[in-house]
Amino acid sequence: MILPIRYYGDPVLRKKAEQIQEITDEIRKTAEDLVESLYAEKGLGLAAPQVGISIRMIAIDAGEKRGDAFVLINPVVTKADKEVIMEEGCLSFPGIFGKISRPSRIEIKALRITGEEVQLNLDGLECRAVLHEIDHLDGVLFIDRMSSVHKIVIAPKLKKLIKVRRSEPV
Ligand code: CO
Repeated sequence: MILPIRYYGDPVLRKKAEQIQEITDEIRKTAEDLVESLYAEKGLGLAAPQVGISIRMIAIDAGEKRGDAFVLINPVVTKADKEVIMEEGCLSFPGIFGKISRPSRIEIKALRITGEEVQLNLDGLECRAVLHEIDHLDGVLFIDRMSSVHKIVIAPKLKKLIKVRRSEPV
């Protein structure tokens, strides 16, 4: 089931998401829905809070071959390399982009949807997408990591985004 994306201004995007204690049928269904919603939006990554579910789950589809998404549960960064600047967007901020500094390479620990504990070494777009989505789990948005100058530049677009999305029927 495709779930509607929550946009900037929705309080769920600022909440710290809950740790997942047990992989139940409900959690497995949420993982399926999250991947389906990610494909529908053609995004690189999607965090559960972005569809209004405040739990620590992310879906990533940023590999060389798109359409091969994977889900991570309770992801934690265990090592991070030096930072690089890359342009980013976010499904919760349509039309807004910005240059963001993040580690170029990371090691993470997480659970697969099968319950298997994995340790992954990521770089490139996958590293970028995972870090962006983990931020969502902590209520951190990519605009928080923009330079103060860039924040001023996008301020009118942010205001417009809140206004337009609020006037849409729910
Ligand atoms: Co995002």
